[in-house]
Amino acid sequence: MSESSSYHIITFGCQMNKADSERMAGILESLGYGWVEDPNQADLILYNTCSIRDNAEHKVYSYLGRQAKRKQENPNLKLVVAGCVAQQEGEALLRRMPELDLIMGPQYANRLDELLAQVDSGMQVVATEPVEIMEDITKPRRESTVTAWVNVIYGCNERCTYCVVPGTRGVEQSRPPQAIKAEIEELAAQGYKEITLLGQNIDAYGRDLPGISPAGRRQNTLTDLLYTIHDVPGIERIRFATSHPRYFTERLIQACAELPKVCEHFHIPFQSGDNDILKAMARGYTREKYLRIIDTIRRYVPDAALSADVIVGFPGETQAQFERTLELVEMIGFDLLNTAAYSPRPGTPAALWSNQVPEAIKDERLQQLNYLVGRQAAERSARYLGRVEEILVEAVNPRDPGQVMGRTRGNRLTFLPGDIQTLRGQLVSVEITTTRPFSLTGTLINPPVMPVLVA
Ligand code: SAH
Ligand code: SF4
Ligand code: F3S
Repeated sequence: MSESSSYHIITFGCQMNKADSERMAGILESLGYGWVEDPNQADLILYNTCSIRDNAEHKVYSYLGRQAKRKQENPNLKLVVAGCVAQQEGEALLRRMPELDLIMGPQYANRLDELLAQVDSGMQVVATEPVEIMEDITKPRRESTVTAWVNVIYGCNERCTYCVVPGTRGVEQSRPPQAIKAEIEELAAQGYKEITLLGQNIDAYGRDLPGISPAGRRQNTLTDLLYTIHDVPGIERIRFATSHPRYFTERLIQACAELPKVCEHFHIPFQSGDNDILKAMARGYTREKYLRIIDTIRRYVPDAALSADVIVGFPGETQAQFERTLELVEMIGFDLLNTAAYSPRPGTPAALWSNQVPEAIKDERLQQLNYLVGRQAAERSARYLGRVEEILVEAVNPRDPGQVMGRTRGNRLTFLPGDIQTLRGQLVSVEITTTRPFSLTGTLINPPVMPVLVA
């Protein structure tokens, strides 16, 4: 590789994929590659792919096709496909697109340097065998200087019948609490203010780690981890995602209520409001159990923001079953809901069932649900009007350079007039003056006093 080699990464998918991209970018920079904004100028292009739904996967193929043509003119161009499509398709991708140099599953993100060394020696590499995830040694190139993702558990041991993730991300592997704490201390030293702990099923954290307390209770749970990392000086806010209703404990809710840095926001996907559909999905809980969790949250943290994921048109879903989802949403009142029409995925059981719901019905249900979600989000936002909220300022409003933006503790995006140079990374008090379904606008009260810089 020459000194001046450049790279570009395109990321699809969830927070976990984004976090993987940041670490892979860090590895590329440690190898001497420099970021270039225009992919058409790059010597190495990495696609970090997602296969959660069909359309996510298709995007990848259309992008790749264009770059494969470029490679025919410029044989030195390196093309890397990482992430969940890479894991799912493996060698088949190479047959479809022989121009590719490297195909690597998510478990290999931290090993990008070893794999590139093989590519540099002239090989085409497919790295999709299950492997122990290497502890993170490279400094990620993080998007933000204020908020950061911290992986705590990789993989997923669940077997939801619609989902590719267990196949693409492999079995659960928890990072040791000391390694997680060390990363957070390092982030605090660099000036980060907020961290989000990540796992596909974060409540499973620690199940694969040793540790039973003298009282016979399992140690190294997510709750224990929150206590372990809570007091890192400099970190002001802690978030975590994604929670699974099956494992969500009262002890965890209690810890969230008790620990001041843990934000009052819970993201707990429920997927369906109907017990028979939940059973067919193999989710392992009932609608009643989900409602009990929400009740417990509201008991400990009355103003908590709630968000979730939900699927409509799962195989066999009747109109009445869909209406039970609507009814559950009505009952709870979500601040935000990620909705999706069921998409049959290769290698998952539900994709093979004969009782698929027609596309037109899925679309109709999705629209109906989205309408409710928008209305509800507007209602939930409205409660902020006139209130003073704590906002952590992250960036400039891309639509208005005179404004900055950040989030409430409940994770509502909030805009306010102000100068990013003064406000970035500051926790400020903002009086909310306008509310919209998914965002707020306000004005600063008691602007922070900037230290006077002496030259
Ligand atoms: N681990 C998390 C989320 C995993 S994927 C959980 O257990 O909830 C993110 C979301 O994508 C899921 O919550 C689900 O709502 C959606 N999803 C997953 N597979 C899907 C499929 N085949 N079709 C439609 N949506 C899907
Ligand atoms: Fe997929 Fe279920 Fe695992 Fe979530 S818990 S990642 S939906 S298999
Ligand atoms: Fe997509 Fe893989 Fe995440 S399938 S949602 S990138 S775990």
